[in-house]
Parts: sequence; structure tokens; C-alpha cells
Amino acid sequence: MNKTGLFLSILVAIMAICSVYAYACRPSARQTTEATPVATPSAAAPTKGKVLVVYFSSPETDGVDASSGASRLVADGKLYGNTEYVATLISRKTGGDLFQIKTATPYPGTHKALIDAAKKEQEAKARPKLTTHIKNLDDYTTIFIGFPNWWYDMPMPLYAFFDEYDFTGKTLIPFCTHGGSRFSQTEKTIATLEKGATMVKGLSISRNSVDRSEETINKWLQRLGFNN
Ligand SMILES: Cc1cc2nc3c(=O)[nH]c(=O)nc-3n(C[C@H](O)[C@H](O)[C@H](O)COP(=O)(O)O)c2cc1C
Repeated sequence: MNKTGLFLSILVAIMAICSVYAYACRPSARQTTEATPVATPSAAAPTKGKVLVVYFSSPETDGVDASSGASRLVADGKLYGNTEYVATLISRKTGGDLFQIKTATPYPGTHKALIDAAKKEQEAKARPKLTTHIKNLDDYTTIFIGFPNWWYDMPMPLYAFFDEYDFTGKTLIPFCTHGGSRFSQTEKTIATLEKGATMVKGLSISRNSVDRSEETINKWLQRLGFNN
């Protein structure tokens, strides 16, 4: 072999060794993943973003007292429906914006008429016309949604509300006030109506203890990570 042949042979051998070394030392797919960790949200510091506290409430005006099922209470000189009061406390604690679901046709203030009207709507699977609408839903990542239990279900305006919005990607946290039935099946119903949302276990409060529910609400919110 002449000098040129010898030089070329050595060059080829060096290139072969280099390529074997390079293959052996390449990062595996697993190593690549480990070297580029994906940030995961920490349980201790959840990212909840902006909070909206939605509620429907229909305070009865005929003065039923607490023992016969009051649906309104006075706090700080203001008259609240039961669910409205709970919504206000949640909003104060979380810093969330309040949004009231209102209907074009107001509900009767007297107990018997309200009971009958709600029953009729439920039997008709009515979708009452709503007069309030969320303008900036994109701003919110967490939405509390509160209502009174009516005939073991949500009031029909809630169905109209869930028809109107798609909460895909949002976190939904239900709360309700009731006379003994708690949520009935309403948490499951909401999950079915809003399949793309993340549902959080809600809080139900008896109408008989709404006026002293602040501590219970605060503890529940703390467990959810709202520590304001
Ligand atoms: C039309 C109507 C139906 C109701 N149905 C139920 C029921 O099925 N189960 C229950 O536990 N409470 C029921 N209640 C009681 C309410 O859930 C309770 O009074 C609630 O706190 C009212 O909230 P609000 O003042 O925000 O409207 C009903 C009340 C009304 C007016």
C-alpha cells in the first residue's frame, strides 16, 4: 500500500470510530424528557386564575320565618336570598366577581305561588329567558355556580344558563341551599351538561343555617386552596 492508500485507510477507520461513538452517546428519548421537565401545577399553590361567582336566588317576600322555611335573610342592613347570601360570602373570600342569573319573567314572591310556578316550569322542561349574560367568560378560569334546590333539582333558569355557555376547560364549583335535600342529583346533572369542565365537589347549606354559615364556607374554601 502506498502512502496515499495508507492515509485514506486511516481516515476511513477514524470516521467509522467517530460515528459508532456518536451513536452510542446519543441521548435516548427518555433522557431528553428528563432533561426538559414539564412544569406541573403544584397542589400547594394551585393556579385558579380569575374567579366568577354565579348565582340564582329567589327570595320569598311573604315573610315566612326560619322555622317554616325562610328564603331570605337580612345582613348588614341588606335583604338577601339564601343563595345570594352564600354567593356574597364566597365572592368576598375569593375576591371573585359576582354574577346574578336573572329572568325576564320574575318569580312570585309568595311561597305557595313560587312553589307552583317552579313545579309547572319543571314539568314543562321550560328554559326561562335570561336577562343577564356573562360578557367576558374568557377572563375566568374558576366559576362557582350557586342555586336553591327546587323540587329535587336545579331551578329551570339554571338549565337555560348551562344551555347558553360552554365551560370546557373551566373549573366549576357548585353550591346550593336547600330545605333538606342537599344537592339531590344536581352535581351529576351539571357534569353531564358541561362535559368539558372540571367539576369540584360542591357545598350544600341548609336554609336553616345559612345565616351562620360563614365559618363552614371559609373552611371549605380553604380546603379548595383559597387562602385569601
Ligand atoms: C319552588 C321551591 C321548591 C323547593 N324544593 C325543595 C326541594 O325539593 N328540596 C329541598 O331541600 N328544598 C326545597 N326548597 C327550599 C329551598 O331550596 C330553600 O328555601 C332555598 O334556601 C331557597 O334559596 P333562595 O332564597 O336563594 O331562593 C324549595 C323551595 C322552593 C321555593
